[in-house]
Amino acid sequence: MVVGGGAHSFRERLRAATARAHERLDDRISSFDLGEPDAYRAFLIMHSAVLPPLEAGIARACADAPELDLAARSRTSALTADLETMGARPAAPLPVAEPASLAEALGALYVLEGSRLGAQILIRRVRASGDARVRAATAFLEHGSPDLWRSFLDAASSYVVDEDALCAASDGALSAFGAFHLACSQYFPLPVKDERARV
Ligand code: HEM
Repeated sequence: MVVGGGAHSFRERLRAATARAHERLDDRISSFDLGEPDAYRAFLIMHSAVLPPLEAGIARACADAPELDLAARSRTSALTADLETMGARPAAPLPVAEPASLAEALGALYVLEGSRLGAQILIRRVRASGDARVRAATAFLEHGSPDLWRSFLDAASSYVVDEDALCAASDGALSAFGAFHLACSQYFPLPVKDERARV
């Protein structure tokens, strides 16, 4: 069944499917002050465990969709530069699920591209940090031109046009969020006071 609505429908479906997963991630990351060097270093290391393998899997599954311009979207180099600025080494890549279809890959790419929206908020604290290295390590959070989100939604919604594809894209997005949750649990633990609150 073909679903009407284009970019709006694609975005609404994926946003609804991943709202809870996004909230959990947002809560965890927002519980840290990214202006603090240790927290910011952990934030970057956490990303280094999942961003490169997610980008690589998406690139393999989207090889026949050059208009996505994945080279312009990749933030692995920016992340590597920020880790160097912070004097940190990348984490070993976590095993992330390989997208089984273009639609699944577009769901995973929705998560990566959407994270640029959150980055616009996170960057405020980083820019205001009292630590010069933190203020200098903004290539990842500042990466890309503002039209990347809109062009992604337009391209993705031209491929994800039926119910099966929307379901596959939602699966791909949830899987990508799952990879971020796993990386957070390994590299971005909750502050001690929050851990105590959970006992
Ligand atoms: C690795 C971490 C994160 C990932 C993967 C992620 C992912 C996403 C995705 C997929 C969207 C698009 C949702 C939509 O369709 O509107 C989004 C939007 C957004 N995120 Fe995040 N996010 C992350 C962290 C954060 C954090 C920590 C915050 C809060 C400080 C945040 C705040 C937002 C905001 C404000 C939007 C814009 C919503 C809108 O314009 O409708 N995100 N994020």
